[in-house]
Amino acid sequence: MPIKHWFYTIFPALKQPLHRRWYEYISALDKDANLLFMNHGYAALDSAEPLELSAEDEKHRYPLQLYHHMASAIDWSGARVLEVGSGRGGGADYINRRFKPRSIVGIDITANAICFCCRHYSTDGLFFARGDAQLLPFAGNSFDVVFNVESSGYYPDFQRFLQEVVRVLRPGGHFLYADMRYQEDIETWRAQLDETGLRLIKEEDITPNAIQALALDRERKQELIKQHAPRVFRGLFGTFAGLGGADLARDIPKAGERVYLNWIFCKSRG
Ligand SMILES: C[S@@+](CC[C@H](N)C(=O)[O-])C[C@H]1O[C@@H](n2cnc3c(N)ncnc32)[C@H](O)[C@@H]1O
Repeated sequence: MPIKHWFYTIFPALKQPLHRRWYEYISALDKDANLLFMNHGYAALDSAEPLELSAEDEKHRYPLQLYHHMASAIDWSGARVLEVGSGRGGGADYINRRFKPRSIVGIDITANAICFCCRHYSTDGLFFARGDAQLLPFAGNSFDVVFNVESSGYYPDFQRFLQEVVRVLRPGGHFLYADMRYQEDIETWRAQLDETGLRLIKEEDITPNAIQALALDRERKQELIKQHAPRVFRGLFGTFAGLGGADLARDIPKAGERVYLNWIFCKSRG
């Protein structure tokens, strides 16, 4: 089992503060707004027409495609939307521009990321606020869609987060959710999601799509790391970006090691 996994099993209380510091640091380093997404990405494996993107969006094609793939599954018209763990806001901004819901609010625990988003985006209907996934600062039944991308693995109390999702979703609302876990944790993960009482609409294994996206986006990520990260931290940045350290792709979620799943749930009306 990887060292990181063991470390957090023994010291669970360190998980949140260490990751928070890390994301504060990443946000402070990116002065030129090059880093709008922080997920592993998604690449289609069939020969479907490539997603048409503006030159600006093209720079973020693979991480953006993960949002696009998740978002394409539902109707967004008139939707009040919450993204939990919105990071540097690229996903919420893209969904707002492309799928045109009524409004989107992104919340994240990292103050620097939220400050960045408040300065960087000025689109109508898009808002950002600091907040903890385990204690969502919203009334019950407030949102038609809650989405959460590659963030939940950092929450010390994952079940508390799920309870909060169920609370803030209105009946009939959707929970769009994507993340990865080590193989040995998948059964518990499924059981936790099952306990929420949310109706499962789709579970999709997108591990091969993430691996392909990491391979295709590797050079861009390496260049970003070279430009922004101090030399001493480049290996660590590479690991977080799914590049497996400075050079080797050893942290890519391989089948049999980590599994990347994409889920859609619905809160029942009755
Ligand atoms: C890997 S990044 C993904 C960001 C974004 N979803 C994306 O795909 O670009 C994980 C994000 O989760 C946020 N996060 C971690 N723990 C959190 C918590 N308890 N509440 C809210 N956000 C949290 C981090 O600050 C970070 O911005």
